[in-house]
Amino acid sequence: MSFFDRIAPHYDRFHDLLRLGHPEAVTDLLSLAGGETLLDVGGGTGRFAASLLPRLAEAWVLDASPAMLARVPSGVRTCRGDAAALPFPDGSFRRVLLSYVLHHLEDPRAALREAARVVAPGGRVVVHDLDPTRRAGRLAQGLEGALLPVRALSPEEVGKVLGSCCLLPAGRRDGSWWVALGFRRPEEGARKG
Ligand SMILES: C[S@@+](CC[C@H](N)C(=O)[O-])C[C@H]1O[C@@H](n2cnc3c(N)ncnc32)[C@H](O)[C@@H]1O
Repeated sequence: MSFFDRIAPHYDRFHDLLRLGHPEAVTDLLSLAGGETLLDVGGGTGRFAASLLPRLAEAWVLDASPAMLARVPSGVRTCRGDAAALPFPDGSFRRVLLSYVLHHLEDPRAALREAARVVAPGGRVVVHDLDPTRRAGRLAQGLEGALLPVRALSPEEVGKVLGSCCLLPAGRRDGSWWVALGFRRPEEGARKG
């Protein structure tokens, strides 16, 4: 049983206690016009995806933990899987979110490339995570690292990987120990620059 399977019944309470969520920043960067499809990769108990349902055509949570997925509210579609090998065709979603998942992954760059692959032309990817370039981010990383392996990428590294997949920066919000980064895939046929 994985760490997240064990803590699933308590996850939402921890999340609130530690103030992990920054819904305004993330929602802002998702830039929902209404009627989009969202994939929340490592979306856990699905609370955030469910909160956006009124503004979405469809919301999916993909997660490796069956116990986290079991708590996803009805109305949000679920899929057990690996962030580094998403079981969806290219361009399947208008919005893709990775919130506090990247630093848990063995191969975070592969997960970023997969997010870039499944986002549709004109769509957006948002990455919300610890910021290891800030002192408070490194402290949070150290505390979490006492419980499980942690490999946070810097905002620059995230930008480099998504840039190599032809995504363009589309906004950034900074907290004391976290960062939320927005990227967009240009429409097909759009000129570079
Ligand atoms: C800290 S929780 C974040 C949950 C949610 N995104 C949030 O912001 O509250 C990390 C989640 O990533 C999931 N996870 C870890 N490794 C994964 C992998 N390789 N593929 C998909 N999900 C994974 C865990 O099961 C857990 O639900």
